[in-house]
Amino acid sequence: MAETRSITTPIYYVNAHPHIGHVYTSTVCDVYARFERFLGRDVFFLTGTDEHGQKVETSAREQGISPSELADRNSAVFRDVLDLFSISNDDFIRTTDAHHEQQVQFFVQRLIDRDAIYLGEFEGWYDKGQEEYYTETKARELEYKSPISGQDLVRATEQNYYFRLSSFQDRIEELYEEQPDFVRPQARRNEMLGRLREGLNDVPISRTNFSWGIPVPGNEEHVIYVWIDALFNYVTALGLGLEEEPEENRSRFWPADYHIVGKEILWFHSVIWPAVLMALDLPLPRCIYAHSFWISEGQKMSKSLGNFIDLESLEGYCNRYGGDALRWYLVTQGPLGATDADFSRQHFHDVYTTDLVNTIGNCTSRVSAMIGKYFDGLAPADPDPSSDGWPESTAVHVEACIASMEEFDLVDSCEQAMAIIRRVDVYINEKEPFKLAKNPDSMPEVGGILYRCAEALRIASCLLAAAIPERMEALWSSWNLDIDPGRGNLQASMNWGGLAAGTKIEKVALFPRLELDDSTD
Ligand code: MSP
Repeated sequence: MAETRSITTPIYYVNAHPHIGHVYTSTVCDVYARFERFLGRDVFFLTGTDEHGQKVETSAREQGISPSELADRNSAVFRDVLDLFSISNDDFIRTTDAHHEQQVQFFVQRLIDRDAIYLGEFEGWYDKGQEEYYTETKARELEYKSPISGQDLVRATEQNYYFRLSSFQDRIEELYEEQPDFVRPQARRNEMLGRLREGLNDVPISRTNFSWGIPVPGNEEHVIYVWIDALFNYVTALGLGLEEEPEENRSRFWPADYHIVGKEILWFHSVIWPAVLMALDLPLPRCIYAHSFWISEGQKMSKSLGNFIDLESLEGYCNRYGGDALRWYLVTQGPLGATDADFSRQHFHDVYTTDLVNTIGNCTSRVSAMIGKYFDGLAPADPDPSSDGWPESTAVHVEACIASMEEFDLVDSCEQAMAIIRRVDVYINEKEPFKLAKNPDSMPEVGGILYRCAEALRIASCLLAAAIPERMEALWSSWNLDIDPGRGNLQASMNWGGLAAGTKIEKVALFPRLELDDSTD
């Protein structure tokens, strides 16, 4: 049986329009999922939409439609975005799916039965926009204003169902201690630890001031807090909590390997969610990975500054540079670490030119042009395959590339593949096959050099296929390589010598050189 890997994006709110944040998280997950599938793992990649809550109810009212119409309409927009950016998710869950609603009620009932949820009175600082309560300490720190919308926090009292988060203090601290990689990166883990040490309070998990949500079982005046509803998507999509055996058994995908989330929603994922799972005696995910934010042209994105990277501007980049160029930029330059990343037009253009045009594009076209010129476009034979340590040095990068991907270090994983290509460039410059080819006696040597270059590029292309799938397929087709990530044989494809002598190597121009153009947005 193949090993399983499962990865999730947050499920996206349907009351906002998709923007770079959504495309980014979905893309990094996609790269991991594609790579792991190519490695032959049994992968489950989940994304979806978060559709309940007061905000959706209010915007539907404002637009004169029902919340479910609004949810249908906007959820479809998010689904279309996935196609647009070649996201290969295995399922798309909607919190309005009937099965999800039933399963959430099942889990909440179980939590009530186990006394992990109780009915009580609550007073606190409420962020209307975010539908989130803050403690006194936190509210003071925020100067009683929403960190998201800037609106005043309001004092609110409610009779609510509560989750006994306070009783999980020790277990959550132990979890952080025993699994130092449970929250990544390290700086975010430290932040969560700091907050944990302030002490955990019980959290209200129901609302009575609106009705667009899943009713609390047995007390229909209350709807389940949208965050609790939403977090359960990770297990409801896998069929956990279903009374009947689902058609497709996906329980093997729990616990998830990675929940990839933005830094602002880490607390829910790294403290509340594990406590809920503990209360249900369900296994915990392996890692909650919290990325930072994209800013744009040096500043926080905002509609009024005109630097907001919405779907339209992302499509502009795709149209001009190609979808793979956008993926490459997001993955290699994005905020996977603890600091925010700046999306700038100039930087995008420079990265495109340096990595894709000058490195991958130039090297592949150089090698195919020389094979065209000196060997009639047929891959030459290598008279001395072990020469210059190619099999070994490539294997080192392959291993490191795979190991980094497993650790969700996408930047290093891509870097390992690029290192192979850079070495090919250096090798050509050192060996100067174009000079050797002037002497007919040197042709076997030239053949060996070019074979090694093409073979190293073939291997690098397999490692890069998860990040830039469309262009790597174009390369495979020009070089008549029978590579299909769907076969799950990445490891086997990595063996040195996979390129057969005599293979037709056609010329390729993978990434056109472009001028910086101000019209991308
Ligand atoms: N519905 C909740 C998640 C529930 S998961 C059980 C939610 N949805 S969201 O639509 O607002 O979240 C979108 C994701 O986009 C979050 O992970 C968030 O961090 C991310 N981003 C939003 N703006 C972003 C940037 N400027 N940069 C990078 N990602 C950012 O939260």
